[in-house]
Amino acid sequence: MNNKAFILPNYLKQKKNLINNYLEKILIQCGLKQKLTRAMQYSVMAGGKRLRPTLALASAEAVSKNYIYALPCACAIEMIHTYSLIHDDLPSMDNDDLRRGIPTCHKAFSEAIAILAGDGLLTHAFQVLANPSPFFKKYPEKDILLDIIRLISDAAGVNGMIQGQIMDIDLNLKSSKLDYLKKMHKLKTGKMLVASVHAGALSVNAKQEMIKNLMIYGDKIGLAFQITDDILNVEGNSAIMGKATGSDALNNKITFPGLMGLEQSKKYAKELINDAICSLKNFHGNTLPLQAIAKYILTRNS
Ligand code: IPE
Ligand code: IPE
Ligand code: MG
Ligand code: MG
Repeated sequence: MNNKAFILPNYLKQKKNLINNYLEKILIQCGLKQKLTRAMQYSVMAGGKRLRPTLALASAEAVSKNYIYALPCACAIEMIHTYSLIHDDLPSMDNDDLRRGIPTCHKAFSEAIAILAGDGLLTHAFQVLANPSPFFKKYPEKDILLDIIRLISDAAGVNGMIQGQIMDIDLNLKSSKLDYLKKMHKLKTGKMLVASVHAGALSVNAKQEMIKNLMIYGDKIGLAFQITDDILNVEGNSAIMGKATGSDALNNKITFPGLMGLEQSKKYAKELINDAICSLKNFHGNTLPLQAIAKYILTRNS
């Protein structure tokens, strides 16, 4: 594929459709008669950029043509991500009313149902990974699958996203504010983004050296993604983003624009994206999607 043939919006749309198709099937199989499963479906199918599952597929594609093997981990990661958003929006957490352009899960259902829908999605994600049938014909080997489960549970758990969420709600400064912020973002958002590229690459049996470089890519885009998120919370349009803006300042959150100013934050995010793209230079597979996604992280408006 040459540069001219690659059009990111088409690529994102195609991957989103593919992922949505599988997620829809997985949720229908959970049964949609109960309020609980309807709430799970409501939040997963509400939209969202599908960045993490797309990264898993793009990472697999940078290594092999068989990127379809990364679909199970792509779906599981999106289910875990959606659970994290449902719980993040709860009154006891960020108390948000709008997510993905529609009322948050607890607003549309109830707080108890939202808690359980999040629990259901998190648990079912691992069920999807452990049980390919009847959705996925192509599946990573058993040993690889165990590695994938290990790395996703680590990224989502107490050494990853959950730890980041605790750092977010319970500020406990032992270092400079900037170091704290970087660490918090690496855990809260970065680790699941790194896990997405890592799991995608593992699904297609990537060599250690490639995985190492892909994880550098994930780490850099992860931090840049969160810097952009902070910037969008200041400059973004709530209607386009489908969630509240201005909330960081209102809640006295430490943010990149707050610590280094908007212009410096943009410059820093750009440097990280350049570094991320550099980490792909020795790949022989198709890295155009990963390169384009990295640039999109800087220019996204939602
Ligand atoms: C939002 O993630 C939460 C953060 C980690 C900042 P996304 O911006 O990827 O949300 P969706 O999936 O597109 O809704
Ligand atoms: C959400 O972070 C991160 C997770 C759900 C793990 P934020 O609270 O900063 O993001 P938004 O603004 O609600 O999307
Ligand atoms: Mg939060
Ligand atoms: Mg929030």
